[in-house]
Amino acid sequence: MKRACVIGWPIEHSRSPLIHGYWLAQHGIDGSYTKVAVAPDDVAQFLRTLPEQGFVGCNVTVPHKEIAFSIAEEVEEAARVVGAANTLWLEGDRLFATNTDTYGYMTYLSHVVPDWLAHDGPVCILGAGGAARAIVYGFLETGVEEVRVFNRTRERAEAIADQFGPRVKVFDWDNRSDASRDACVLVNTTAVGLKGNGSLGIDFAGFNPDCVVSDIVYVPLETQLIADAKSAGLRTVDGLGMLLHQAVPGFERWFGVRPQVTPELRKRIIADIEG
Ligand SMILES: NC(=O)c1ccc[n+]([C@@H]2O[C@H](COP(=O)([O-])OP(=O)(O)OC[C@H]3O[C@@H](n4cnc5c(N)ncnc54)[C@H](OP(=O)(O)O)[C@@H]3O)[C@@H](O)[C@H]2O)c1
Repeated sequence: MKRACVIGWPIEHSRSPLIHGYWLAQHGIDGSYTKVAVAPDDVAQFLRTLPEQGFVGCNVTVPHKEIAFSIAEEVEEAARVVGAANTLWLEGDRLFATNTDTYGYMTYLSHVVPDWLAHDGPVCILGAGGAARAIVYGFLETGVEEVRVFNRTRERAEAIADQFGPRVKVFDWDNRSDASRDACVLVNTTAVGLKGNGSLGIDFAGFNPDCVVSDIVYVPLETQLIADAKSAGLRTVDGLGMLLHQAVPGFERWFGVRPQVTPELRKRIIADIEG
């Protein structure tokens, strides 16, 4: 039996076992996917002994993504760019790592709004953490000419601009509404709105009517930002799709089948979020 897991600290909140468990059952695979609470001091040892523990690989969540990146022996470009890994697997006894957040975000965006790139205008990113870096990379790879980054702590936005070059422009956090009016896509990658905490205070008056508003926070599924954008008549993309799609490459690596993100899977995770 092939075994995979997700590690984090804490880990109780993780919905990854529900996602992978659904696919294992759907494909009748003799495998398991569990969650394991691993304290920060134990991560290195845990990852180095994956084979001895009988795991073929694992997902890594907060706060272990950076250390996982540094421990892996082979790192794919997607993880190198972000400086963090969320998906690890063994090839022989070598530990490989990637980051599937870029894939998850861009795949779902294109699924919900296939023509998002058809509109002129910059992409505006709120936040400058690990998720922001993955998403900035995705948009630049797709050929977007200008990505604007707004972050409460300006230096972190500047670090992203320094890494990716002149197509990334840093704007003041306080200017996030005014400087996003011409956006083709606005993305919240901050933790603001999680479990209803805080408000981004975006005023959608005067926004490009073709703007797509997306939030990677998915608890609640309809964040205040998404609700406000809908009220303003804008198209929206929720954060759950990114979570579901980022899980696909790991499952394929560990269990040998490329799974589908189905409406039934989505329904199950929504029931868990709202339950
Ligand atoms: N849907 C998905 O699959 C998915 C995947 C990854 C992450 N996420 C979610 O995305 C969010 C960010 O994740 P991350 O890994 O990038 O975290 P991170 O590296 O810790 O970055 C957090 C970001 O949120 C900002 N922030 C936090 N509190 C704020 C506040 N009160 N006002 C303004 N900005 C605030 C931080 O700004 P400062 O720099 O000023 O602190 C920073 O830009 C989390 O909610 C996470 O759950 C979702």
